[in-house]
Amino acid sequence: MALRVPLRLLACSALIITAASLVAWATPATQTVSALPAAPDGGDLEEVMHDLEKQFEAVIAAIEKKEAKTALDLMTKVQTICIAAKTMTPPKIRIIPEADKAAFVAGYRKQMMVLLKSAADLEISLIDGDLEKAKKLTEEMDAMQKTGHDAYKKMPKKS
Ligand code: HEM
Repeated sequence: MALRVPLRLLACSALIITAASLVAWATPATQTVSALPAAPDGGDLEEVMHDLEKQFEAVIAAIEKKEAKTALDLMTKVQTICIAAKTMTPPKIRIIPEADKAAFVAGYRKQMMVLLKSAADLEISLIDGDLEKAKKLTEEMDAMQKTGHDAYKKMPKKS
């Protein structure tokens, strides 16, 4: 009997916490976007991207030669570059209307994270020695390059 009140209190608290979690989960993405800190502008993103290209091409070459270990050894570098690139701001930000800047920065960052996720999957396929899957993942990452450049580079190349 004496336990009834504390138990009820406990149940109420659990309900409140669950409800709060659900509200947080259902919060629209726009709030998350506006809460993002401003990333440093431009900087040497182009240089970072050239480095990514160099490492990525070396990974593709190693996979083609069926050298899973060589490709695997390059993956930390590829992932580190994605992490470095995600907090940079594409120079295109300068021509984005003020009201759309936060969404632009958030969209870019999310796309870099999708690339990083694929780089993680690629690493796992290399650890497994599954070169067929590894090749497919590099093709997907290549497609992401095109999508990313179309959206975030000032003058996307046609190729
Ligand atoms: C494997 C994937 C990728 C590779 C190998 C790659 C490679 C490159 C290279 C070589 C450049 C500089 C030369 C050029 O203008 O073409 C570049 C620029 C750029 N890339 Fe990527 N990229 C990749 C993925 C992405 C993704 C996913 C995004 C966006 C989320 C992105 C955003 C940009 C931007 C904004 C620039 C322009 C940077 C500047 O002008 O300062 N890239 N990329």
